[in-house]
Amino acid sequence: MDFKTQVAGAAGLPGVATDALLVLVAGTAQPDGLETELANVLAAAVKAGDFTFKAGHTLYAHKVPGVKAARLVFAAVGDASPKAIRKAMGLALVYLKTGGAKTLSVTLAGGQWTAAQAEALVAAVADGTYVYRETKPSAPPACKLAAVSLLCGKADVTVLGAALKRAQAIAEGTALARECANRPGNHCTPTFLAEQARKLGKEHGLKVEVFDRKACEKLGMGSFLAVAQGSDEPLQFIVARYEGAAKTAAPVVLVGKGITFDTGGISIKPSAEMDEMKFDMGGAASVLGTLKAVAAMKAKVNLVCIIPACENMPSGRAVKPGDVVTSMSGQTIEVLNTDAEGRLILCDALTYAERFKPAVVVDIATLTGACVIALGHHRSGLFSPDDELAGELLAAGEAAMDPAWRMPLDEEYDEGLKSNFADMGNIGSRAGGAITAAKFLQRFTGKLRWAHLDIAGTAWKSGQAKNATGRPVPLLTHFVLFRAS
Ligand code: BES
Ligand code: MN
Ligand code: ZN
Repeated sequence: MDFKTQVAGAAGLPGVATDALLVLVAGTAQPDGLETELANVLAAAVKAGDFTFKAGHTLYAHKVPGVKAARLVFAAVGDASPKAIRKAMGLALVYLKTGGAKTLSVTLAGGQWTAAQAEALVAAVADGTYVYRETKPSAPPACKLAAVSLLCGKADVTVLGAALKRAQAIAEGTALARECANRPGNHCTPTFLAEQARKLGKEHGLKVEVFDRKACEKLGMGSFLAVAQGSDEPLQFIVARYEGAAKTAAPVVLVGKGITFDTGGISIKPSAEMDEMKFDMGGAASVLGTLKAVAAMKAKVNLVCIIPACENMPSGRAVKPGDVVTSMSGQTIEVLNTDAEGRLILCDALTYAERFKPAVVVDIATLTGACVIALGHHRSGLFSPDDELAGELLAAGEAAMDPAWRMPLDEEYDEGLKSNFADMGNIGSRAGGAITAAKFLQRFTGKLRWAHLDIAGTAWKSGQAKNATGRPVPLLTHFVLFRAS
């Protein structure tokens, strides 16, 4: 999908050469300045009770006399907030994504495009036209829409063009994350994730290293190795580096949980909905998607992406409850529950991250069911002892319409991690489970400026609409770009 700006000619909206014309209508009444051909359609529909100016209402008209575009769609956007634009775009697309239109031009009547609105539009189009087909050949054919133009004045072309470019890069990164996460566990293996990183490396000239079990043993990653040891799929420890700034500039480091399937291990999960644990590499997917977006934009920043990838399986070789392992940091861990495996692979990745002398480290993980209970599916959980870093991440989430919510890290929450047989256990009490998980990770962050995003509720949708969301690629990309400026 290609997004660009377009300046309407002297003939105005009726004369725009496009397959489909979408008029987003802001405000609570018919906007001034709409050309007669369009104004008449709208007024007649309102009079007939077929359209109102309530946000989300849409109207389709075909081959309206005097209008060059064969397909004409109106969609009310109320206050024209980016959120309202995204919602209205999604509804308007229902008319267009299965039809014959290859080109679409969108205008905002009763308002003027802002960069944030342009970004919302791109996100909505990308989201509404994505189809998973890798293992479903019978999926509906690809949407014919190939180019979307934003109708604007000459003076806005530069600013909006830049916003569209950025949004398109984010959309493509998000699509990569969705595609990886949607693939089933027998397709999206640790090896597949490593291949994806290598592919990105070739496309964008990145430094990509992948460590195997032997290399991880040498590094002393006893915690990561313990999770991986129950599976026949070889583990992969993936490190991909994008260098967009001076070599001396401290990098942003992103660490993504890459459990390509989480059975729970010996502490096995119930079978209902266990299939959704193919999404347990959503953190890794979002790190790859962000890397793609940042590299495509050639952002002036250094970015290091670290992905510990393996399966969590029960077997004769699997780690058992009560086993004590030694992490790369030297701290020992009593594995009280093998299903709390995400923190076990992340702790070694956080220790590994230290060698890059990062400006900041953010880990992203589908870490706890407790986070879903706390925040549901709208906001990701954000944990950080660093107010400034937390503020930047929250702001990035708001700007990207990919919001997070800050959760506490008081030392009182750490107490549950005590163990009689190791420096710590890997679980606390059930209460506040998302926070104890974050407290566990915090023990491995030393002097790092660190934040943790628990995306267990936001990385995918369940039920009939089961699908990866690609979140939090938009949040992370905004954050990294902010760090670049
Ligand atoms: N990957 C899961 C977390 C999860 C569960 C995400 C359900 C989304 C939906 C994680 O590895 C896990 O199993 N966590 C346990 C931790 C517990 C054993 C302390 C959990 O949340 O139940
Ligand atoms: Mn688990
Ligand atoms: Zn897990």
